[in-house]
Amino acid sequence: MFEPWSSSASQPNRRLAVAAVLVLALLSSCPAAAQASQPPVLKDAFAGCFSIGAAVNRQIVGGSTGRLGFGRRSAEQIERDRILVTTQFNSIAPENDLKWALIHPQAGPDGYQWGPADAFVEFGERHGMYLVGHTLVWHSQTPLWVFQGDGPLINNSQAAEQTEAGEESSEPRGRRFRRPGLEGPRATREQLLARMRDHIHTVVSRYRGRIKAWDVVNEALSDRGEEVLRESLWREIIGPDYIAKAFEYAHEADPDAVLRYNDYGLEDPAKRRKLIKLVRSLKAEGAPVMAIGTQAHLNVSSASFENMDRTLTELETLGLPIHVTELDINSARRGQRNTGADISGNVAATEGGLVDEADRRLAEAYEDVFRAFLKHREKLDVVTFWGANDANSWRSRGRPLLFDGASRPKPAFDAVLRTTTRAD
Ligand code: GLA
Repeated sequence: MFEPWSSSASQPNRRLAVAAVLVLALLSSCPAAAQASQPPVLKDAFAGCFSIGAAVNRQIVGGSTGRLGFGRRSAEQIERDRILVTTQFNSIAPENDLKWALIHPQAGPDGYQWGPADAFVEFGERHGMYLVGHTLVWHSQTPLWVFQGDGPLINNSQAAEQTEAGEESSEPRGRRFRRPGLEGPRATREQLLARMRDHIHTVVSRYRGRIKAWDVVNEALSDRGEEVLRESLWREIIGPDYIAKAFEYAHEADPDAVLRYNDYGLEDPAKRRKLIKLVRSLKAEGAPVMAIGTQAHLNVSSASFENMDRTLTELETLGLPIHVTELDINSARRGQRNTGADISGNVAATEGGLVDEADRRLAEAYEDVFRAFLKHREKLDVVTFWGANDANSWRSRGRPLLFDGASRPKPAFDAVLRTTTRAD
């Protein structure tokens, strides 16, 4: 037997083995050793700590349909966006194209639109990236046909809420979801469960073994008082066990996929308590929740090391890996009050111009949260930015990312890299 450490091993062999161990240690150390790439690259700087992801749209992926065209960005800009994504990031999530309204806009087996999602997966695989599927069950961006059926009448105000949320998106301007009729009877519990199962099975199985992590349920928690689960047609029609069912179906479809529960505002202690309560009860019921997704839509006024440290410390009590799923830090004046992810409130949240010394404050905020990420690196698997650069962000007017619209690194980029040289 070859024993590299035994005295019988030849000197050159032993040297080789020592060198190999050192190289491995260097490669897997977190943060990565100082000889990181020049010019600096995020995914290399954090190699061995966590993956660095970006949400991408179909233009970046290159699977743009004629309808979306290159309306918002020129072909040259998109090319630069693509280079940025493939150079700096080693994980991607589709900003919109796996959401029910886009991938399964019509009922029935022919109601799926696979093109953009297939292109997303192929793009990611071509570049050796960790692929995230976002999202299977959500109160927003879900077509109304899903909830229509043979049950009692749909309450109009709830139905309106569903479609309003679906109307807005960070897809290029001009993109609008169809507004289905709001009248009519809603689905029964059995009908809706069957549709959910069919949707999850079809989508997850198609990408089985390729998409490695799924946001199975997105934003089920309420922002109101003590109410744990938000009002939604999922909860209304199926009951609170819709969440456990969604996880069960996703696990059936791909037993190896990492199944996440994903929500926003977990920096707020009250929301976090709800998350902890929900996930504990899901685990007690045996639901295969495998990771916590914390969106982290932050703002420069409240993002701090202490807050992120506390957030992650408490989330870790659940004993599950943590994925930061939608990181951005809003620098717009009007966006400093809350960290909600409600797309309908987003316009106001990016108004008022930028805060004073926006670049400096953004850099400090990012440095703070990345110091906290590094402190919790043992539990953190992925840190995904919600967009690759400011031009592609849903909050582009709040300049919330590390790269400007021309993909040039901002001071916040250097600040993030600095954290790797002073990790606690
Ligand atoms: C939430 C969703 C994302 C995205 C953002 C805003 O955080 O999870 O898919 O819609 O809102 O764009």
